[in-house]
Amino acid sequence: MITGSSRGIGRAIAVRLARGGADVIVNYRTREEEARVTAAAVEEAGSRATVVQANMADPADIEVLFAAVRDGPGALDFLVCNAAAGHQGTMLEATVKSWDLAMNVNARSYLLCAQAAFPILKARGGGRIIAITAKIATDRAFPFYGTVAASKAAINTLTAYLAVEFAPHGISVNAISPGLVDTEALAYFRLGSSLFEKARQLTPSGRPTSVQDIAELAAFLCSDRASQINGQVLEVDGGYTKLFL
Ligand SMILES: NC(=O)c1ccc[n+]([C@@H]2O[C@H](COP(=O)([O-])OP(=O)(O)OC[C@H]3O[C@@H](n4cnc5c(N)ncnc54)[C@H](OP(=O)(O)O)[C@@H]3O)[C@@H](O)[C@H]2O)c1
Repeated sequence: MITGSSRGIGRAIAVRLARGGADVIVNYRTREEEARVTAAAVEEAGSRATVVQANMADPADIEVLFAAVRDGPGALDFLVCNAAAGHQGTMLEATVKSWDLAMNVNARSYLLCAQAAFPILKARGGGRIIAITAKIATDRAFPFYGTVAASKAAINTLTAYLAVEFAPHGISVNAISPGLVDTEALAYFRLGSSLFEKARQLTPSGRPTSVQDIAELAAFLCSDRASQINGQVLEVDGGYTKLFL
């Protein structure tokens, strides 16, 4: 199950896990057509896709998403909490609404999805939970991103607590932290194109981070080889966030 897999990083993870043999529950909020494109790519990779509309801000919708597991495949091995939303603005522009949006879609949904996934994964003898975070914005002040960054910091802390609680049941919980990745999300950033251009020019590895880079780490974390990696926030950014700028 991959939340927010109608496009961007979520879609790339869906297709990569499908290539590894996983059937995929594709979740979206508004873009059904895009979700169907992801589902078609999953099927082209030889796996089955189930498309479920559910708003991660709404706990009742999260129940609907997990009902799709019970009513459909009946099992779950991997949960990827990727969906994110938020308003761009300074901290002085932040409102209760923008705070709640970021916290509920990004952080609270991670907790609620992990809680819902736990008994299903436990019954399978274990599994993997992966969240997508943004250390690029939690370790320093990323422009106009404060409320979302606070929700990502919550994700980082939740990852440690969930990992410790779920590990005895064979479930690992980790977070992937991308560098700047060229997805539609950047179009909503006030400085989106200039921030990406900077990353494109300065990333020490010589190229910006791609959606495939993130999907490869997700696939590795879902493999048996990664069974002892737990509670970590893993950066995939070609060294960009290690630069002193
Ligand atoms: N791009 C970057 O540079 C970057 C850097 C660091 C971290 N990240 C993180 O990577 C993840 C994916 O980002 P992206 O760049 O791929 O974003 P994106 O292209 O904008 O895609 C966002 C996805 O989240 C879904 N979504 C948004 N609000 C939702 C809600 N309330 N309920 C359910 N789904 C919802 C969207 O569904 P609809 O299509 O239906 O709207 C879409 O599938 C996010 O957690 C983001 O914070 C991205």
